[in-house]
Amino acid sequence: MARHLITSAIPYINGIKHLGNLVGSQLPADLYARYLRARGNEVMFLCATDEHGTPAELAAAKAGKPVADYCAEMWAVQAEIATGFRLSFDHFGRSSSPQNHKLTQHFAGRLADAGLIKEVSEKQVYSHTDKRFLPDRYIEGTCPNCGYDQARGDQCENCTKQLDPTDLIDPRSAISGSTDLEVRETKHLYLRQSDMRGKLQDWIDSKTDWPVLTTSIAKKWLNDGDGLQDRGITRDLDWGIPVKKGTEDWPGMEGKVFYVWFDAPIEYIACAGEWAEAHGKTDADWERWWRTDKGADDVRYTQFMGKDNVPFHTLSFPATILGSGEDWKLVDYIKSFNYLNYDGGQFSTSQGRGVFMDQALEILPADYWRWWLLSHAPESSDSEFTWENFQTSVNKDLADVLGNFASRVTKFCRSKFGETVPEGGTPGDREAQLIEDIDKGLAEYQSHMDAIEVRKAAAALRALWAMGNEYLQDVAPWTTFKEDPDTAAMQIRLALNLIRFYAVISSPFIPDASAQLQTAMQSDDTDWPTDATSALAAMPVGHAFSVPEVTFRKISDDERADWQERFSGIRT
Ligand code: MF3
Ligand code: ZN
Repeated sequence: MARHLITSAIPYINGIKHLGNLVGSQLPADLYARYLRARGNEVMFLCATDEHGTPAELAAAKAGKPVADYCAEMWAVQAEIATGFRLSFDHFGRSSSPQNHKLTQHFAGRLADAGLIKEVSEKQVYSHTDKRFLPDRYIEGTCPNCGYDQARGDQCENCTKQLDPTDLIDPRSAISGSTDLEVRETKHLYLRQSDMRGKLQDWIDSKTDWPVLTTSIAKKWLNDGDGLQDRGITRDLDWGIPVKKGTEDWPGMEGKVFYVWFDAPIEYIACAGEWAEAHGKTDADWERWWRTDKGADDVRYTQFMGKDNVPFHTLSFPATILGSGEDWKLVDYIKSFNYLNYDGGQFSTSQGRGVFMDQALEILPADYWRWWLLSHAPESSDSEFTWENFQTSVNKDLADVLGNFASRVTKFCRSKFGETVPEGGTPGDREAQLIEDIDKGLAEYQSHMDAIEVRKAAAALRALWAMGNEYLQDVAPWTTFKEDPDTAAMQIRLALNLIRFYAVISSPFIPDASAQLQTAMQSDDTDWPTDATSALAAMPVGHAFSVPEVTFRKISDDERADWQERFSGIRT
């Protein structure tokens, strides 16, 4: 038993996330958290909403609400949808929490004391039309690095380069579209992350087991001349964490707030404090996850995120942690994802294109989506959601293979032997083969899960389901029964035990179906199996079971066509 800290990139507060966002961080993080818990580890799985910065202000303005009210409402909406998808966070926090205010100001103070913060008289874009400064996403233009013409002031979505608003070519206001802009001087705080290049380089070089996607992005920006340039960590916005040096005021910084990308990752830590408060725990209870001087040195910390988040997690946030000089836990493993595309184009929040999390749950239960998304996770390259592919996966993997197995076995048993595990004869060669195959398959499944190879793990799980079907096909108990009911009973005893085995090992992917099958098997033994022989004897002769309701239904061609049509346009 080990201790695992797991965080998912914290989603922006501005609206409901689409399935591409879900599969890029929260969902695989949940898969891993559930798996590690199921295997008996102590897990702390944290996520939160990312509430500051221009995205929040812009969305609140659009909704016509005060930004604090807007954030509180959207937090509740996102929390409910997370529950709907069975995301098993130990806590779903808010980056606007008092804990994060305090901790962010604390880090700024530590960094200042360490000489890592400088005050810079900065050029900022002022919009005459909007009568305000335009930080970050308030400004759009062409990326100087790759030429993408819709780059935002803080980052180019296309090439992942971190930008400053004044870097953009042909800039325009994201509020009014105005190009009547002027560059003015104002004072801001900069984090001297370039001073930490050596430390960061050593740290990243030591991570030889990280996924190529993570290290390639990290190294690209680390070695790029200005990838690690000093970054402004304050903004002229109303909504955010007020700039303070620890608990003291910061002369000259009145009215300014910290940059959202400074405070958002700190929320990973603050969220543990929120968890402690919510559960009546002490500071020591959360610090044992985060402070290496207070027990966290034996914690393994894994982060999940989309590829656009990698620079912030491999460079900026570690710079904050290392620069503080305190014993905070650094991430051990960063699992990053490519993008999921939607039916021939891109998912897009700003354009409302694709299927959003609330809509998905309106048409089908969480497990259908969880299975498709995880088994098609964009790991080695971008992947694409199509309705045909979704229909095929659900109908084949879930309905034909897993669901049908459970249904056939339980119904056959009920009609021939009654609703208890039958006794029957002695297993033979085919059963020995089944056990050998399952042992191998289980080992393979576990090794992919341990390595967070999500697609490979899904394929290995599917293969384990298929083994049950093949076995049933080969031994055909419904035929055997006519001449040799004893042997048929033995085959069905194994098959019933396979259902429980599947329920246990599938729970990280499809928790609701697993619980349903577990209930049908009237078993509360959810211990992770050690080997096929004991797993297939877990429900002894005479153990009562019931026939489950339909575990997975098929998607008809008509439904598929309907949904394809319904989600082809732009969400309004
Ligand atoms: N809100 C960001 C996004 O959706 C992710 C923030 S992750 C954190 O891209 F590190 F800042 F917390
Ligand atoms: Zn670019």
